[in-house]
Amino acid sequence: MTKTVVGFSKMTKEEKIHWLAKTYLSDSKSAIVTLKTYWNNDKKLQQLHDEFIENTISNFYLPYAIAPNFIINGKHYIIPMTVEESSVVAAASLTAKFWSERGGFKTEVISTIKTGQVHFMYDGSFDELQDYFNQIKSSLFEATDAITKNMRKRGGGILNIELKDKTDKLKNYYQLYVSFETKDSMGANFINSCLEAIAKAFRKEEIEIIMSILSNYIPECLVRAEVSCKIDALGENAEIFARKFYQAVQIAQVEPYRAVTHNKGIMNGIDAVVLATGNDFRAVEAGAHAYAAKEGQYKSLSHCSISDGTFKFWIEIPLALGTVGGLTAVHPLAKLSLEILQKPSAKELMQIVAVAGLAQNFAALKALTTTGIQQGHMKMHLQNMLNQLEATQEEKIALINYFSDKQVSYSNVSKTLEKLRITKMLE
Ligand code: MEV
Repeated sequence: MTKTVVGFSKMTKEEKIHWLAKTYLSDSKSAIVTLKTYWNNDKKLQQLHDEFIENTISNFYLPYAIAPNFIINGKHYIIPMTVEESSVVAAASLTAKFWSERGGFKTEVISTIKTGQVHFMYDGSFDELQDYFNQIKSSLFEATDAITKNMRKRGGGILNIELKDKTDKLKNYYQLYVSFETKDSMGANFINSCLEAIAKAFRKEEIEIIMSILSNYIPECLVRAEVSCKIDALGENAEIFARKFYQAVQIAQVEPYRAVTHNKGIMNGIDAVVLATGNDFRAVEAGAHAYAAKEGQYKSLSHCSISDGTFKFWIEIPLALGTVGGLTAVHPLAKLSLEILQKPSAKELMQIVAVAGLAQNFAALKALTTTGIQQGHMKMHLQNMLNQLEATQEEKIALINYFSDKQVSYSNVSKTLEKLRITKMLE
């Protein structure tokens, strides 16, 4: 049977599912049941989700949770998180509580500039190109007037357009380097529309426009979050804890193998809030990792210092986020997340998201430098194992109790469950 399909996008959802099941899935009946189990009964809501992307055949659930007790610049927050990994939300909540008793998180937005580039090739004299650019610069702004009108009313818009000579990197390669302020929107569509209008107005025979696109590298759209306290206030074995924690951060500064995992832990918190608020986590990921490598070597996004008896731990991270536009107003849960966060501006959301990342990193380093990560992680993962083993509610309670002071591993859990079932059978 041919597996090439023509006109797939025109098929109904029902037709798509049947084609998929028939062509690729051995147990087509149960595959169809699985896909349909996740359809929403509310037809309007389902249609909304269907239309986010093309060829939607079902919905993919992720847990939606909240982490309470965050204090940021003296204000209380409950942070919504969407993430599948056990222990991320528990870790965020524990850290929030820990720092709420030590002054909370302090944050500031350092800058909010985003950029995009019109990439083009030109095989002529640079002076002539520069003259042409100088002559046409004001009409490049004018070409975007209709697009930027509303943004300008909100205090944003195009900040500058520069001509950049990139011929040292690639023969004949130049850019129009455009900076933007996009206020409360993430601004991807706005930036790309402006760039395409600028490219059109800039076009002439000797210039070959290659592409016009925003950059997800945003080192000037930066936020900082910090916690600090006297070392004595850190709790049990405070001195040793502070020293080992500090060293763990230094290791992530100098050793890329560790830095990547260290930053992955930060992104556990960041992505969860970015997703829950309907923002673009791929853009945030790409920008954060590029920033981590800005000095030519991949490094930790967080920093630690110990001086005059004070422990300080902070993060500086670029974040392009929106609280208007995109999915934020369309996805009912994204909208609700922003309500839970008390309708933040994009700048406030940057601070909240940076805090979620710092909190997650603190929790991971605290566990790693004391008990090790597996103890807490496997306890949380126990629930997943029990579900996989199809344990009943009664069995779950018994096993969670049993493993409260024992090592959790898949084989231990399955053996113990088996024993429990045999004992029950013999009773
Ligand atoms: C696991 O998702 C994240 C950690 O590996 C982060 C870290 O090692 O810092 C625990």
